[in-house]
Amino acid sequence: MNGSMKGERGARLSRRFSEALSFTAILFLLLAAMLLTEAPAKEPARTEAERAGEAEIAAAGLGEISLPEPAKSGPLSVEEAIARRRSVREYGDREVLLSEVSQLLWAAQGITGERGLKRAAPSAGAKYPIEIFVVAGNVETLLPGIYRYRADGHTLTAVAKGDMRERLCAEALSQECIEKAPLVIVLTGVYERTMEKYGDRGVRYVHIEVGAVAENIYLQAETLGLGTVFIGAFSDGGVKDLLGEDDVAPLAIMPVGVKH
Ligand SMILES: Cc1cc2nc3c(=O)[nH]c(=O)nc-3n(C[C@H](O)[C@H](O)[C@H](O)COP(=O)(O)O)c2cc1C
Repeated sequence: MNGSMKGERGARLSRRFSEALSFTAILFLLLAAMLLTEAPAKEPARTEAERAGEAEIAAAGLGEISLPEPAKSGPLSVEEAIARRRSVREYGDREVLLSEVSQLLWAAQGITGERGLKRAAPSAGAKYPIEIFVVAGNVETLLPGIYRYRADGHTLTAVAKGDMRERLCAEALSQECIEKAPLVIVLTGVYERTMEKYGDRGVRYVHIEVGAVAENIYLQAETLGLGTVFIGAFSDGGVKDLLGEDDVAPLAIMPVGVKH
């Protein structure tokens, strides 16, 4: 091996050595960066079923719905509303507006007392045993389904999805107005709430109260140009099963729609 060959080999070796050195330095820097950077906190994993349910509810637009603020004055006097009120069993095609749903539910069970305790309709011992469900078929913003009204907060909670009007109608001697109405309100009672205080007499009180609530709905509907009817003929078990809520007993069905 001559002197120039020896020189070339030396240069190659030193090139490789410096390449190896910079590779190690990069590795070291990467490792240090990984150790110094704090790993982001991981969210608790959800089950497949939970993820599927959430996705379904989000896709369907169901969940908790805030109702618009109800009006506290209107175009019709209470005397005019009483004079005009009639049971209405045929409705126009127009959808019911969310503001109208809000107004009807407020008239039925809305919180009107200053400290949030008292509601639009009277209640024995202020126990408020009437629970209200909305069966939406053609209602602005609401997807067809069943919703439970929460007076506290003036919101609706979805409890079932899909158009249930036909099934509800079948449970009420096929009274057609239920299937045809864009919106159906179902009034139910939780007897224990009142019987806890009044014993057996509480049953009477709950039945009286559903009448007061229904009349408020009738009169409020009148001011909005809507019509409704109190339906008392239905299968208790069938309607309860459809609502799917264990704590309530169905007491009245009130289809609502635009008056012709
Ligand atoms: C407790 C009760 C149960 C009723 N059940 C039904 C019913 O199942 N189907 C119906 O079409 N109307 C029903 N109605 C409505 C009455 O038929 C109606 O109020 C009555 O004919 C008086 O007419 P008006 O409400 O137009 O003044 C019921 C009313 C009440 C108070």
